[in-house]
Amino acid sequence: MNPHPADAVPVYRVSVAPMMEYTDRHCRYFLRRITRRTLLYTEMITTGAIIHGDRDYLLGFHPDEHPISLQIGGDDPDACAESVRLASSYGYDEYNLNVGCPSDRVQEGAFGACLMADPDRVARIVAAMKSATDKPVTVKHRIGINGRESYEEMKQFVETVAAAGVDRLIVHARIAVLGGLSPKENRAIPPLRYADVHRLKRELPHLVIEINGQIGSHEQMREQLRYVDGVMIGRAAYDNPWLLADVDRAFYHERRVPLSRAEVIEQMVPYIERYRHETGRHPRAVLRHMLGLFAFQPGTRRWKQALSGRIDHDVDVAALLRDAIRAIPPDVLGAAGSPGDSSNARSGDRSADSSRVAVQR
Ligand SMILES: Cc1cc2nc3c(=O)[nH]c(=O)nc-3n(C[C@H](O)[C@H](O)[C@H](O)COP(=O)(O)O)c2cc1C
Repeated sequence: MNPHPADAVPVYRVSVAPMMEYTDRHCRYFLRRITRRTLLYTEMITTGAIIHGDRDYLLGFHPDEHPISLQIGGDDPDACAESVRLASSYGYDEYNLNVGCPSDRVQEGAFGACLMADPDRVARIVAAMKSATDKPVTVKHRIGINGRESYEEMKQFVETVAAAGVDRLIVHARIAVLGGLSPKENRAIPPLRYADVHRLKRELPHLVIEINGQIGSHEQMREQLRYVDGVMIGRAAYDNPWLLADVDRAFYHERRVPLSRAEVIEQMVPYIERYRHETGRHPRAVLRHMLGLFAFQPGTRRWKQALSGRIDHDVDVAALLRDAIRAIPPDVLGAAGSPGDSSNARSGDRSADSSRVAVQR
């Protein structure tokens, strides 16, 4: 029996997509300064890595990162269930199965998007994962793959997986062309078919359905949310994280004023220092995720140069960041909320007291 009927599963109006090499724990900690409510995903971690690898390194995360979903890559029900079991002591809020990734490496392992051709197997994996946890188990998939491109085939896939008790489905609204396109091309070339995802929700209203693919503004999120339960944002959130700045108020009825960029930076300083102190690693591992903080703003070039140029291992992080924001106008540094959403930005403007921020000029 499904212990999570659709109406009992937390619904996240907005989430940040799993992105390998990008949504690591430092990225998530940084994004969490900007949005408290958005669901964050790990990078995909394979069952082999979870079962045989350095689990603390792969699965550990900061308590601030909640709510967080662990994305698992695998094709074997027992291994997927074992991975959930092993991960459960880390306290993930959800588990997600990757049925959308088209990379060659993944195809060799017969998992990722190619699993769309085998709905029964995905159903067995979901059932096995659910037997290993009482947390929600979700599936991220495509609208199809080459050879199985029709709406009807996707619907049949979804119905089969739903019968196994999946708690939520996240649908990347383009097919994956396996064996023909690179992963990057597979995120750009197959046309977006949002209408298929909207139809899926219309025809299967009892399922929790989220949409993913090229959504990059609050207006687009709002538009999508007229048809589906949630939106998942990938590249736009990484390249321009301030896109998430007012998501909590706009989509989660959060009343608290979000942090300003200056406050976000200020909170990152002790985190970076602690990371360097505890691991002995270079601060760049964290700084690299902050490059997009001033996307589309004056001064962004200097900011990026300062964070990606030559940086000594024992750099004074606060001083580096203070220097990096020299060309950023005070109103950009001090304003809370999304600059793309002017009404919210105005109501949450903190520029007046931004001088108290330690990293502020
Ligand atoms: C660099 C990169 C890495 C990705 N890694 C994963 C992954 O590990 N698992 C996954 O399901 N999707 C992965 N994706 C796909 C994204 O989750 C998302 O489905 C895709 O980028 C489309 O959303 P967007 O147009 O909002 O970026 C990746 C995408 C990018 C750009």
